[in-house]
Amino acid sequence: MDNQSLFQRALKTVPGGVNSPVRSFGAVGGTPYFVERGLGAYVWDVQGNRYLDFVQSYGASILGHADPQVVETIALQAHKGTTFGAPTLNEVLLAETICEKVQGCEWLRLVSSGTEAAMSAIRLARGATQRDKIVKFQGCYHGHADFLLAGAGSGMATFGIPTSRGVTAKSVEDTIVIAYNTVPRLEDDVACVIVEPIAANSGLIVPKPGFLEGLRAECDRVGALLIFDEVITGFRFRAGSCSPLVGGVVPDLYLFGKIIGGGLPMGAFGGRRELMGELAPLGGVYQAGTLSGNPLATAAGLCVLGKLDDGLYEAIEQKATRLVNGLRLALGESSVSHFKTLIGFAMDDYAQFFHSMLARGVAFAPGVYEVAFPSYAHSDDDIEVTIEVASEV
Ligand SMILES: Cc1ncc(COP(=O)(O)O)c(C=O)c1O
Repeated sequence: MDNQSLFQRALKTVPGGVNSPVRSFGAVGGTPYFVERGLGAYVWDVQGNRYLDFVQSYGASILGHADPQVVETIALQAHKGTTFGAPTLNEVLLAETICEKVQGCEWLRLVSSGTEAAMSAIRLARGATQRDKIVKFQGCYHGHADFLLAGAGSGMATFGIPTSRGVTAKSVEDTIVIAYNTVPRLEDDVACVIVEPIAANSGLIVPKPGFLEGLRAECDRVGALLIFDEVITGFRFRAGSCSPLVGGVVPDLYLFGKIIGGGLPMGAFGGRRELMGELAPLGGVYQAGTLSGNPLATAAGLCVLGKLDDGLYEAIEQKATRLVNGLRLALGESSVSHFKTLIGFAMDDYAQFFHSMLARGVAFAPGVYEVAFPSYAHSDDDIEVTIEVASEV
C-alpha cells in the first residue's frame, strides 16, 4: 500500500480524502501520508516511512503516541465496556481532578470535542445572561459551531462575516470579531467574550500585558461572562489552566479538550457552581451527549493527567527551548515563536520548509498557522536531529 494510491482511494468515498480539512495538505500541496501506527515521538506511514512527529494529534498526545500505561488503561476499560449511557466513577474522578487544579472551576461537564465544549459554553452564557451577542477574536479558533465561524474585517470591531458556506449571515450576526490583544468597549447586550488566553491557532500569540485583565474588567463592567478556551493551552504548560502564566485572570468559564482525553475524543467546560447550575437537569439550558464522559476517554484522560507533574513539564519545556534556539539559528529569529512548550512558525514559504522536513523524516503540521507540539516522548536526540535537518533544509 502506498500513500498516493490510498489517497486516491480515499478520495472516492471521503470528501477530500480526509475527515478534517487541514489533513488534506491543501495549504502545502502534495499527498498526505496515511499513518499506520505511532509510538512515542514517531509515526509510521503505510509505506513504512518513519516520521519524527511534532503534530501529536494537534496536541492531544502530550505523552507521545501509545504510551504503555495509557494503552494498558484503555485496554482494561475496553474489556469492561466502552459506553453505557449511565454515570461512571471515572467521570467523577476526572471532574474532581480538573476542578482541583483549575481556579474558579467548581463544576465541570464532559463532552466529546472542543467544538462541543465551545458551543455548549456559549449556549450556557447566553442562557445565563439572557443576552445574544458574543465577542471573539480574529485568528482564534473555537471549533466549527456556526456562530463561531466568523472572520472579521481589519482594524476596529466588525460584525461577523461567515467564513464558511452554509453558515447563515443570521447565525453570525450576533458574533462580534475583534483584533487579538485589543480590549473592546463592550455594550450591555454582550453575553460573553470568548478568547484563547494564549492564541495558538494563528501561529502562536502571547497576550499583551493588560489584555486579559482588560477583558475581565470590561466583562465585569457590563455583566458579560469571560470564557477562556483552553482546548490547546489547558494542561499544556502546567497541570491546569495557563492563566497563572499570563497574569492570573480567572474567567467565568473554561473550555478544555485534547490533553484531558488522553488521545481519545473528549472536551469539557466548567466554571462557578451557580453558573454551571443553569445546565439541564438543574437549570433550563439544555446540553447532552450519548458518548459524553465516555469510559475509554475518561480512563485515558485520568491516566494522562495522573502523569503530568512539574518535572514532566520542565522536561518538555527544556526540549522545546533547545529546539526553538536551533530552529531560530537555522530559519531566522523571526520565523519561530515560542511559549514554554509550544512553538509557532511565521514564514513566507512554509510549504517548502514543511515538505523539505517531511522528506527528511520530520513531520510538522501541514499549515503555517498550526503550532508544533513537542511531547514528553521527544528525546534530546530527536531534538538534535530536528535541528540538524532544519539546518540542512
Ligand atoms: C483553541 C481550540 N478550541 C477549540 C477547538 C476545537 O476542538 P475540536 O477539534 O476537538 O472540536 C480547537 C481545535 O483545534 C482549538 O484549538
